[in-house]
Amino acid sequence: MTIMANDRAERIAVYPGTFDPLTNGHVDIIHRGAELFDRIVVAILVNPDKSPLFTIEERAEMAREVFTDQPRVEVDVFEGLLVEYATQRGAHAIVRGLRAVSDFEFEMQMALMNRRLSATIETVLMMPAESYTYVSSRLVKEVFSLGGSIQGLVPALVERRLTERLGTSQNA
Ligand code: PNS
Repeated sequence: MTIMANDRAERIAVYPGTFDPLTNGHVDIIHRGAELFDRIVVAILVNPDKSPLFTIEERAEMAREVFTDQPRVEVDVFEGLLVEYATQRGAHAIVRGLRAVSDFEFEMQMALMNRRLSATIETVLMMPAESYTYVSSRLVKEVFSLGGSIQGLVPALVERRLTERLGTSQNA
C-alpha cells in the first residue's frame, strides 16, 4: 500500500465584520472557528459609510493582541467585496455568528448574495455560547458610555481601550 503524503490544502475561513469593538461573543466564535478550520482570518472591514469609535488600525491592533498566542487566528483588514477578498485569501468558507432568530434574515441574505457572487465559498453560521447571545458591539458601547458595567462582555484590553476613549464606566 502506498502511503500518500498529506498534501491536503489548508482549510481557511474568513470571519468578516466591523468589530467596533471586538466582543467576547466575537472571541467565542473565533475560537469555535479555529477548531473547525486550519486557519481563521478575522477580516475587519474598512467601511467608509460608518463612523466607528475605533479606527481600523486600532481595531486590528486590539484583535491581534487578543489572539497573539493563537497561531490559527490571523487578523487582517479588507475593503471592497467580501467574496473577492475571501477568494484572494484562498478561503473555503465565510464564518458568521448567529445570536438569535433576529440575526437570521440578514445573515441569510448575505450568505445567498455571497453564494451568487462566488459559488465555491460556503457561509458557515455559528452559534456563540448562550451567555453571549445578547452581546453586540453597539450595545457594549452604549452601556459603557452611559456608565454601565461591561465586565465579562469584552476582552479586558478592549475594556481598557474603551476607558481611554470614553472615560471610566461609573459602575465598572
Ligand atoms: O460586523 P458587521 O457590520 O455585521 O459586518 C458586515 C460585513 C462586513 C460582513 C458586510 O458588510 C460585508 O461583507 N461587507 C463587505 C462588502 C460586501 O461584500 N457586501 C456584500 C455582502 S452580501
